Parts: sequence; C-alpha cells; structure tokens
Amino acid sequence: MKNIFRRKSIDSLIAETKGKESLEKVLGSFELTMLGIGAIVGTGIFVLTGIAAANYSGPALVISFMIAGLACGFAALCYSEIAAMIPVAGSAYTYGYAALGEFWAWVIGWDLILEYAFAIGTVAIGWSGYFNSILESLGATLPAAITKAPFEGGFINLPAVLILVVITGVLIVGVKQSTTTNNIIVFIKLAVVLLFIVLGIGHVNPVNWHPFMPYGWKGVFAGASVIFFAYIGFDAVSTAAEEVKNPQKDLPRGIISSLIICTILYILVSAILTGMVPYFKFKNTAAPVAFALQQVGYKWGSALISVGAICGLTSVLIVMMFGQTRILFAMSRDGLLPKVFGHVNLKFHTPVKSTLLVGIITMAVAGFTPIGIVSELTNVGTLAAFIIVSASVIVLRRTEPDRERSFKVPFSPVVPLLAIISCSFLVAHLQKVTLMRFVVWLAFGLIIYFVYGYKHSTITDTKVNNQKKVI
Ligand code: ALA
Repeated sequence: MKNIFRRKSIDSLIAETKGKESLEKVLGSFELTMLGIGAIVGTGIFVLTGIAAANYSGPALVISFMIAGLACGFAALCYSEIAAMIPVAGSAYTYGYAALGEFWAWVIGWDLILEYAFAIGTVAIGWSGYFNSILESLGATLPAAITKAPFEGGFINLPAVLILVVITGVLIVGVKQSTTTNNIIVFIKLAVVLLFIVLGIGHVNPVNWHPFMPYGWKGVFAGASVIFFAYIGFDAVSTAAEEVKNPQKDLPRGIISSLIICTILYILVSAILTGMVPYFKFKNTAAPVAFALQQVGYKWGSALISVGAICGLTSVLIVMMFGQTRILFAMSRDGLLPKVFGHVNLKFHTPVKSTLLVGIITMAVAGFTPIGIVSELTNVGTLAAFIIVSASVIVLRRTEPDRERSFKVPFSPVVPLLAIISCSFLVAHLQKVTLMRFVVWLAFGLIIYFVYGYKHSTITDTKVNNQKKVI
C-alpha cells in the first residue's frame, strides 16, 4: 500500500525550479510589497466593513481589525520562514507536501481551491456593489432583479457575472498583469484609501462611537472572523517565490511589510468610517466607504472612491483567478487532479480549459449567492490553510533542523502555536452553518483524494525515497 504521508524532498523541489524553464528572477522587496498590497486591499475594506459594523462589531470594528490582523501577523511570520526556505511556486500546497506529506498537501490544496473560488465570487459581488453605486451617482438605478442574488430579493447579480466573463476572457488570452500595471493600480487604490482618510477624519463625530460594542465581545470576535477576508492575499506574495531576486531576504520583507501597511490603513479607515456614520446605517449598503462620504456631503469624493475601488477590485480578481488556475495546475502536475487541469492551450499558452471551468463556477457563485455566505467560506478555507502552514513550521524545525533558514520565526514554537490558536479562534467564531458547509467540502475532497488522487499521484513511496518519480 502506498503511503498517504509520502513527502516531496525540499532539495528536489528547489532543483525543479533551476532547469532551463526556470522563471526570470526580477522581483525585489518593493515589487513584492506592491504585489501584496495589490492582492490584499479589496472587498474586505471596501465592502465587508459595512456588513461587519452593522451586524457584528459595531464601532468596535477597529478592535475586530486588530484581532484579525494579529492572527494574520503570526501566520505571516510562519509563511515567511517557509517561503524563504522553500522558494518554490505553489505556496502553501507545496510547503505542505514537503513538511507534512501528501495527505495534508491535498487538504491544503483542496482548501485553497475553496479559498480562491469563493474569494473570486466575493470580490466580484463587491465589484458589482461599487459599479451600482457609480450608476446611482449618475442617476441610473438598475433593478434589484439583476443586481441581487436570490434570497436577497433579486434573481441574479448580473454585473458580478459580467465582470467575471471579462476577467476569464483576459486570462484565457493570456494578458498578464505586469509589475508596472500592478504598481499603478496599487497607487490608485492607496490614493483613494488615503483620500477617504483625509476627507473623513474631519467628519468624525465621537457620538457615533457609542455604544462601542453593541453586540458585546462575541460580536467583536465574530466581526474579526468576517473581516479576516480583508487580509487575505499576503500569501499571494509567496506564490511569486521563483521570480524573486533574493528570496531569502525579499520574501519575508515583502510579506511582512505589505501586511503592516494594510493593517495600519485598515485600523484608520475602520475607526473613521464608524465615526462618520452610525454603525446601523451600514446595514443595507454594498459600498460603505462611498456611502459614508456621500452621507457627509462629498458626492465627488464618493464617486472618486467608487472608481478607485472598481480598479482595485479588478486587479484582485485577476490575481485570484490567476492563483486559482496555478494551484489546479500544480495539483494536476502532481497527479492529484486529472490532467485536464494542467493542460496548456497551444494557441494561447494558457490553461484555457481550467480557466473556463474556474470562470463558470465562480460566475455561478457570484451571480446567485449572497456575499455573506461566500466570504465566510473563503475565510474558513484560508484559515485552515494558515493553520496547516503554521504547523509545518514546527514540523520542519524537527525534520529538517540543519537546513538554512534565512528568516526564522521568533520564539518558535510559541509564535507558530499562537498562529494556530488565533486562527482556530477565528474559525470558531464563524457561523455554525459555514463550518458545516466546510466539513461537507472537506469530506467531498477526501472522497476525491482516495478515489482519484491517491492512485494517480506521481510521487513515489517515501519508504523507497522522497524524490519525485520521473514521468
Ligand atoms: N483581501 C482581499 C480583499 O479584501 C481578498 O478583496
């Protein structure tokens, strides 16, 4: 019987990246930080802040952001150690293969599929909210039937579906986002966030911060597990590992600086947002940041923010959909998923079939599901992956004690354990129904693994060696 915990050796993983087809090493810590901010700032801050403030945290949203930021900080340190040690594309899925073996790699890969598919859905719904807000400021309102999901009083969220049709097309044709385009978009995103801070700060009325915790600590924790979504994306930095000039130094810098910059901005935005408008007024808005500026009379500011948000959300969509196809590609290359996911079209040189499949699934998610459900599923998938990566740090310190670590998580195993505990804490505060859906997803994944992946894996048994079988 094959061993479900067979591992890939780190040396063979690194050797695989050094062949003729290795990627050009052009990225430094600045580009990586911009890449991180490009993937991080999106629907979380522009949309979910309203949902979290109105339903869970109230004005204590700022505390929710601090709690989620702390959990991500611990996890980011763990990512940094492994990314610098194993600078190979594939991120958490690959780390899991090296540290914990195939079974856990499959679980992470399966989690990441959930994370990316539902994150794409969430961001597309957020995009639609800001698109409608622009139309409204121009005096045109689309009917609810084509802007809301069923259960929310509509039939289909058409703008969310249409933006995904465009992004799917762009990725099939193979238009990659260059570093320069990314830098410009990140600049626009940061500019609108700073504009909000500058315009909003003078309109903060401390009365709006009372009561500070209308739903108690339980609400604050639940809010933290919802707006955790806003931090997702720093892990995307590690997927560029093979293109980094000096991965040992630049990767930890890129991951940690992008997270620190976003955390500071989030804390400022959430404090100002809840100070400008009473928290309960955010209940029915899909574009809370623009809404708050409108409420205090900055119609032009609100329109500008909406345009900036749309730009920023589009770039998050491209990064996420690209990431999704890469994960499927890596899992298919290892034999855990059918070959069709690794198939590259000869004309476009892109994985056309898997991009189309991802496009269609995410369109269905974005068109017919409310944002609350989709974003929570993203969070649970991501948190589970963070927990396994943090555990990998502890395991690799024992199994590979002599391997060079240019970046070390301080106070290991305390910090990795804190990452595991804080991420589990956030999982526990998600809605019960989200956890149930996640368990169903995992069970489904295990069936696929044992029926398909286990038999088709291209990795040989660890009892023989840890090397990848030559195929
Ligand atoms: N953190 C990203 C966002 O908020 C996924 O859109």
